[in-house]
Order: sequence, then structure tokens, then C-alpha cells
Amino acid sequence: MTTDGHDHGRRRYLTAKRGVDERARNERVRRRLVAELPATARVTEWGPGVGLSVPTLYDWTRVSSYLGVDADPALVAFARHLLPRLLARRGDEQSGERRFAVGDALDTETRPCDLLYAQSFFDLVAVERALDAVRRAVKPGGVAYAPLTFDGRTTLLPRHPADETVLGAFHDSIDATGGQSRAATALVESLGDRDATLLGVGSSDWVVRPRPDGYRGDERYFLASILDIVAETVGERATTDGWLTTRRTQLADGRLTYMAHNYDVLWRPAP
Ligand SMILES: C[S@@+](CC[C@H](N)C(=O)[O-])C[C@H]1O[C@@H](n2cnc3c(N)ncnc32)[C@H](O)[C@@H]1O
Repeated sequence: MTTDGHDHGRRRYLTAKRGVDERARNERVRRRLVAELPATARVTEWGPGVGLSVPTLYDWTRVSSYLGVDADPALVAFARHLLPRLLARRGDEQSGERRFAVGDALDTETRPCDLLYAQSFFDLVAVERALDAVRRAVKPGGVAYAPLTFDGRTTLLPRHPADETVLGAFHDSIDATGGQSRAATALVESLGDRDATLLGVGSSDWVVRPRPDGYRGDERYFLASILDIVAETVGERATTDGWLTTRRTQLADGRLTYMAHNYDVLWRPAP
């Protein structure tokens, strides 16, 4: 694939993911987050992707300043282009600094924030190192919110005899490449060891299924991307017993259901 094709694919995947995320978000944890925020909040986001969380945050609170740090320069360039347009379309009145920066979020020095937001992020990093960085990034009394944090269970329906081989290899390879497939469990466990105050934990499973009129929005594309991600990650094992071909055919026929187990986690780091 060309670089541009790859970038376009990532952007489209992250945009299609938004509806899946909003259905899955745990409302109890979200309400607790909003109750914990000051009247105007300084926000830092790790791994914002195309930046679609910013309008969502604006729906919840007044944001005095926003900084999103993402490792992918192409996504950051797109987020810079997209955000003013999204806010203009909403007729948004909120002022204040809004900025995206390229870098490893865990190594980027930022002004201490009231809210650190990291969505679908913690499975990509080593949790202990990330929690040290959270403590540096958040003001005393501030909070960290990690919604849609994967917890190592992927289900595809109808079941296939090679699911355990392929999806097991997928989860193992997340663990082998510096992340953690059971990221939410690791997060909650480490927060307990660190005397952080756990303010809310609730499940937020992704469910994408065909309805009588097909998949919602661009969710067929979202599922095709998930299959591509699994295939790229596990290599030849994705073809075990015709797994990948069968899954792609089921998706094309509108017969594939996908469920992934996530949690939303909200905490106050120890001072
Ligand atoms: C799964 S995507 C989630 C994007 C967005 N938060 C969402 O939920 O749609 C993960 C994002 O984190 C970024 N990322 C991964 N590791 C990172 C790191 N160490 N520092 C900053 N960004 C990182 C990726 O480039 C990607 O944009």
C-alpha cells in the first residue's frame, strides 16, 4: 500500500471507530469524570489519533486549554486540519489554546493538567512506565481517564475452529511487542499498588454486528480494518483452516459479529 493509502486507511478506521466507541462508553464512569472536573479544565490527551475526542470533551466541560500528543505525524497533521472544521461546524464558542504535538506521549514534558485523557491507548504501552508518566502529567487533585481500554478478549461470531489459534496469537503478540493485551486489568492492579484513588471502573465493550439493514455507518470498514490488523499482526497463522478468507467472506455477506472487551478507568494519581 502507498504511504498515502495507509494514512487514509488509518484515518478512516479511527473515524469509523467513533460510533462504536460512543455506544460502548460507560456512562457511569463518564458522569463521575464530569463531576470531578473543575469549572474549566486544562486537558492533555495521549494518542488522540485524528482528534475526534476534542468535540466530545467540549460537550462535557469547558476546556481552557487542550494539548494532544500523538506519535504518528500523519495523524497529527490530519487532526490539525480537521479540528477547526469540526468545531466550526458545531458553531463552537469555546476559546482557549488547542494544540497537537508529535512525539512519544510518555516522554513529552507537558504543563500539568486537570485531566489526562488516553482512549484505546494503554494496551499499546508498558503500563508501569505509563503510570509514572501520568503522575508527572497530572496536577495534584487532577484525574486520569482511560476509556475503551482493551482487556484481552476478542470474540468473532459465528465461531470458527481456528479462533483460539488466531486470536490467541493476536493477543500474545500485543504482549510481546511492548504493550499488554489485558491492559485494563494491569492498569487497575497497578493503581492499587500505587495508592492512587480509583474513582470509577466500568466495562465498555465494543459490539459491532449486522442489523437487518446492514452494518451501521462505516462499521463494515471498521471490521475490515480489525481483520487486517489481526492478519498483519499474526502473519501466516491468520490463514489457519482458512480463517482469514472465511472471516472476510462473512463480513462481505454481512454475517460477521465482533465483540471486544474493554473497560473505562478513572483515577486520581497519588500526589
Ligand atoms: C488505537 S489508536 C486510538 C486513537 C484515539 N485515542 C481513538 O480512540 O480513536 C492509538 C493512538 O495512539 C498513538 N500512539 C501509540 N503509542 C503512542 C505513544 N507512545 N505516544 C503517543 N501516541 C502514541 C497512535 O499513533 C494512535 O493514534
